Amino acid sequence: MVESTRYHLNDVARRNGKDGADTWIVVHDMVYDVTKYKKEHPGGFELIDEYAGQDATSGFEDFGHSSEAKSMLKDFLVGELVDEDKRANRKNKNANTNNTKTKGRSLLRRLCGSCGS
Ligand code: HEM
Repeated sequence: MVESTRYHLNDVARRNGKDGADTWIVVHDMVYDVTKYKKEHPGGFELIDEYAGQDATSGFEDFGHSSEAKSMLKDFLVGELVDEDKRANRKNKNANTNNTKTKGRSLLRRLCGSCGS
């Protein structure tokens, strides 16, 4: 079996498409170089740029790409995240980096008080 190259999220973050940098995204813990593809993307390069250097799993899945689109991913594969940066491991560790939803919910709870009980 061929070992895939492992990257940290930091490595991906440097490929944010800015100032001539390449554009990498992460989908389901796999790292993709979409520098060339983003110009051809039917959904526009802006959507990919929004996730440049970051985890694009939610954007990719939320749109509900066709199986053809999913199988295209392998053409851009450059490697895999190191285990400690994989999604499942990040959820708890970095719980406060993307907490808008949690904040929203706790605000709602404060405003709402005992409604729902
Ligand atoms: C390497 C990554 C990606 C590939 C290979 C890809 C591929 C494709 C393909 C082939 C389509 C045409 C429809 C289909 O076959 O499903 C499409 C459409 C679309 N994609 Fe992506 N996509 C990628 C990343 C993303 C990301 C990160 C987003 C983030 C939001 C996104 C959002 C969309 C949207 C909104 C459309 C619909 C465009 C329209 O119908 O006007 N895609 N993509």
